Amino acid sequence: MSLPNRSQSSPHWQMLQWIVRPLEVLEAGAQQHGDCFTLNVGNVVEFVMVSNPQGIEQILTENPQCFEVGRSNRILKRTLGDHSILLLDGDRHQRQRQLLMPPFHGERMKAYGELIQRITQGVMQAWQPGETVRVRSAMQSVSLRVILQAVFGIYEGERVAQLQRDIENFLEFSTSRLSFLSLLVPFLQKDLGAWSLGGRFVRLRDKIDQQLYAEIRERQTLPDASGTDILSLLMAARDSQGQAMTAEELRDELMTLLIAGHETTATAMSWALYWIHRNPEVKQKLIAEIDALGENPEPNAIVKLPYLNAVCSETLRLYPVAILAMPRITKSEYELLGYHFPADTWLTPCIYLTHHREDLYPEPKQFKPERFLERQFSPYEYLPFGGSNRRCIGAAFALFEMKLALAEILANFELTLASDRPVVPIRRGITMAPKGGVEIRIVGKRSRKSAVTV
Ligand code: HEM
Repeated sequence: MSLPNRSQSSPHWQMLQWIVRPLEVLEAGAQQHGDCFTLNVGNVVEFVMVSNPQGIEQILTENPQCFEVGRSNRILKRTLGDHSILLLDGDRHQRQRQLLMPPFHGERMKAYGELIQRITQGVMQAWQPGETVRVRSAMQSVSLRVILQAVFGIYEGERVAQLQRDIENFLEFSTSRLSFLSLLVPFLQKDLGAWSLGGRFVRLRDKIDQQLYAEIRERQTLPDASGTDILSLLMAARDSQGQAMTAEELRDELMTLLIAGHETTATAMSWALYWIHRNPEVKQKLIAEIDALGENPEPNAIVKLPYLNAVCSETLRLYPVAILAMPRITKSEYELLGYHFPADTWLTPCIYLTHHREDLYPEPKQFKPERFLERQFSPYEYLPFGGSNRRCIGAAFALFEMKLALAEILANFELTLASDRPVVPIRRGITMAPKGGVEIRIVGKRSRKSAVTV
């Protein structure tokens, strides 16, 4: 068989649609052509979207050397730099993964439990009954502070506040749909002064860079061999020739973690709060489960709660923060699902379409955490964090943070959605976030047993 069906519309129209309405584009493609089809985005990229679990299994269990992946992330190079793990392949990629994974797993990750609870409490401190809160920016504050602590260690005061503000400004700008367009249209990236798209981007990014380099230089002058934060670990690492990472390599990896590690988690937590408050039965069940742990539960007990786990899983199913895994670019001719693909084909596991298959998830548009209690899904049917040698290194960390922050919020506040209108997803850079940020009204503070409303 030759290539699966292509869409008939013009590439430019497809590009515009892809920027503005990516989910509709994917759904229309699947409806017309099934679970493997080609999507041409403005003659810039041609994805082969795969939402067939057998096809995804083949891609994700294939020898990674058959594919190139870093090249598919080239549009992130301006932000993350040449040395980011996301842009690497082969031995260099594997080495960076080995360095970066341990801090986000096991005991080292668990050490962040109390920190996450404390940071969430800090953000909630400003919440007053009767007020309306924009959940996305509150959750962004939580996740950015958490990742800054994980990356830099004890890191408080004006310096961290400045870096936090600069990252927030940078993200606000670089995740707009206009900025996303500039990723696909290189001319718009040109620095034509402070008011041009390209110029503003460079200035905001350079402001963050200056602070990252200042931090790196300071640590190079005053090394702390006992440090367990990620920057200390990266600085202590040596390659097979005994070489340490250069300042540029360190900067690129820090930027990758700061960006990949907080925007995604903040978006997931915002969707979770939305769905929980949109579905009173879910909320009731979840609060009962959390309350049953009593006062000041241990982080370890919270992360094991089955219903909380199901709520987080369903949140990441319905609107997966990343709608695509990274394209796996074939290095030579390749057979998949009976199709014969040439070299340089962008095989792309489509997370969104897979999570919306009726045969796996009946009534896929409904929020039903129970599905995750009733059956187990394979890693090729449910894949919010992708898979294979590129699986998200922050998956366990993100879920840990999500569960602890949600439990902390629900245990301490009675909340309600500020509006009955359904919230729809909107593109924020390469993620899909709730449009309008989810507004929630603070009804009152609550103790573990009953809400005190005002
Ligand atoms: C809910 C939160 C998150 C979601 C949904 C998410 C999702 C993903 C997805 C889909 C991929 C691509 C995997 C593939 O193509 O197979 C990925 C890769 C990655 N993620 Fe996450 N992520 C989240 C949080 C985080 C956090 C907290 C960190 C860091 C602390 C992080 C760091 C990374 C990195 C470095 C990669 C690239 C891995 C590689 O190239 O080997 N992510 N993530």
